[in-house]
Amino acid sequence: MTQSDLECLLRSARQFNASQDVTGVLLHHNGGFLQFLEGPRQGIERVYARIRTCRLHTDLFELLDGPAEERLFPEWQMGSTGVPESTMLSLRDASWNRLANPKGDLPTLSPGMLLLRAHFGFLTSVS
Ligand SMILES: Cc1cc2nc3c(=O)[nH]c(=O)nc-3n(C[C@H](O)[C@H](O)[C@H](O)COP(=O)(O)O)c2cc1C
Repeated sequence: MTQSDLECLLRSARQFNASQDVTGVLLHHNGGFLQFLEGPRQGIERVYARIRTCRLHTDLFELLDGPAEERLFPEWQMGSTGVPESTMLSLRDASWNRLANPKGDLPTLSPGMLLLRAHFGFLTSVS
């Protein structure tokens, strides 16, 4: 995918996501993507339907689908940035399910979400 393909995709995605009250981020490295979407169930389903049917990619894999208490990226219709391969691999391999602590309480964020927030927070070249 060229830079202009990506810009075109993001323009279209942001417009549609805004119409569905969906926020999130899209990280990419060397033609691979990791995307985090959040919003009302119906909006997520509509956005995900567009992603599934988009012919610009293959091999779609879902890491997590579930309720959230609050948005991680309320200000991003779809923030996007390139990241190093190591970031993509650590995000891919993280646990995206919330793991109960020794007291049996569920933390608000899973290890994958904490990692995503930490990586995205550090990046400056976000468009
Ligand atoms: C990696 C990736 C992420 C995408 N994310 C979104 C998204 O968040 N929202 C959305 O509406 N479409 C998303 N799409 C789909 C594209 O925006 C859209 O289908 C494509 O750019 C064609 O746009 P068009 O139907 O306006 O021509 C994504 C596609 C890819 C390949």
